[in-house]
Amino acid sequence: MRYLQIEGGHRLAGKIEILGAKNSALPVLYATVLTRSVSVISNVPDISDVLTTLEILKRMGVIITKIAENTYEIDTRNVDFCEAPHRLVNSMRGSYYLLGAELGRFGRAKLGEVGGCDFGERPIDQHIKVFRALGATVNQTDSCIVMCADRLVGNRITFDVVSVGATVNAILCAVLAEGRTVLCNCAREPHVVDLCKYLLRCGAVISGAGTSKIIIDGVRSLSGSDFSLSPDMIEAGTYMALGSAIGEYIEIGGIEPSHLFCIYKTLVGAGADIRMLDDKILVKGGSLHSVSVETAPYPGFPTDMQPQLVAAMTTADGVSHISERVFKTRFRYVEQLSRLGANVEVIGDTVTVYPSRLHGATVETTDLRAGAALVIGALCADGVSYVKNSDLIKRGYGDMCKKLVGIGAHVSEHETVSGDGVFP
Ligand code: UD1
Repeated sequence: MRYLQIEGGHRLAGKIEILGAKNSALPVLYATVLTRSVSVISNVPDISDVLTTLEILKRMGVIITKIAENTYEIDTRNVDFCEAPHRLVNSMRGSYYLLGAELGRFGRAKLGEVGGCDFGERPIDQHIKVFRALGATVNQTDSCIVMCADRLVGNRITFDVVSVGATVNAILCAVLAEGRTVLCNCAREPHVVDLCKYLLRCGAVISGAGTSKIIIDGVRSLSGSDFSLSPDMIEAGTYMALGSAIGEYIEIGGIEPSHLFCIYKTLVGAGADIRMLDDKILVKGGSLHSVSVETAPYPGFPTDMQPQLVAAMTTADGVSHISERVFKTRFRYVEQLSRLGANVEVIGDTVTVYPSRLHGATVETTDLRAGAALVIGALCADGVSYVKNSDLIKRGYGDMCKKLVGIGAHVSEHETVSGDGVFP
């Protein structure tokens, strides 16, 4: 097991560069399968979810060549239908985009149980609703989904909940379907927009990306295209939260300000000293007081920032209330944060954060963003902490250790040789 050793309490200063978004990379990489052509995707983050996705694509016969730093040429001309290995599918959530991509290209798809962060129940009924509405026969068991369709035909679908994954799968499935598909109550996240922008460059006919109604007129085929992924708003937001808590002066570059507005507004409302410029953000810490916020689909405050905000607000001098409206039980990390001395209490879907004096401790990350929250907590704590299971953090943060060391953090990554015995 890998773990981070973090000596907290050091003020942080320097620059951090943000790379492309994980949640854009996965849909766009799967979308290349629909093109029967060659695409060049750049600003691809160095994270394990991307590596897993590339491995799944290679198993299908996709030829992938790294042609520059964070840039891949992806050749999907000779691709065969293939059942992705359980080990790969089960290590991440985004592997379910294989369903839309395979159904669109081969008229059939088969996928084992997907993995990803455990926030409690994560149903995929909205994905299934779309596949059926477009004409697929879907057989779902506890461990597997099998789908087939002689032809896919456009339809009008209204999602019962706003779902990023279902919106993405619907787009993947509809771009090559016959006729018009109208999707209502869509997710409006920048990653949905990225997917549509890439597909538009490939010749798809899509309007309304970034609004709650997306209209797709199916085309017979798609060409390949160059595409650069937009910056990861959650990576940027994580360093904004860290900087707000303990930053001397942190500059976050490579960002898209419009994607970060809600995170910026929330942190500034909590007392943070943040300046948003055209392509960078300047953050000074130490002035947090309190915040009252609830998570919501984009453009609301992202659920993927909730744990990091809670960690940052433990350093504030007032009481905060943070409500989780997207994944109502996304609080598994709270127990671990408490081990660092965080005075936090969960009632229903709201966590109350009291002023806390954080201290070093051994903690274990339960999921990707939980890991980021624990890192923020450990960096704000007095003394040394060990964050176990740090591989989970690499699913979504490229070079986190290196980036933190670059701003003066005392962080190093290690591997246990003999179980848990090394931890105090
Ligand atoms: C994606 C992101 C994840 C983020 C989440 C919400 C990826 C790979 N993951 O996850 O990082 O936390 O969006 O921004 O992009 N729901 C249903 N039925 C469905 C689908 C979803 O009830 O068929 C519910 C979920 O339980 C949840 C809400 O809809 O309450 C939003 O989930 P969704 O947007 O689908 O999350 P993911 O796409 O899985």
